[in-house]
Amino acid sequence: MPVPERHVFVCTGDDCRKQGGKKLCKAFKEVLDDRGLKRRIKVLEVDCFDQCASAPVAIVYPDATWYAKLDAEDVEEVVDRHLIAGKPVTAKLYRRAHGPHK
Ligand code: FES
Repeated sequence: MPVPERHVFVCTGDDCRKQGGKKLCKAFKEVLDDRGLKRRIKVLEVDCFDQCASAPVAIVYPDATWYAKLDAEDVEEVVDRHLIAGKPVTAKLYRRAHGPHK
């Protein structure tokens, strides 16, 4: 089996789950499957990133791009623009004073 090129870590901790984290995770898996990418891009659930006020949160690696307040309707755009075309969806990037995306 090939090594995945990217990972999408989707938080399904309590606060993110209340805001649709499980649906978000399912949507990523479905869209990646539709695009024939499920072996190249792996989706994994994470318990909590300790950034619960920004729920639901997802992080794309290896580029360490953080997304916040993402919902299932955003997933196609993230997959097509970011994971396929390499351009993060700036409107959904996580922002904090000292975070990875200031
Ligand atoms: S529950 Fe998702 S960041 Fe804490």
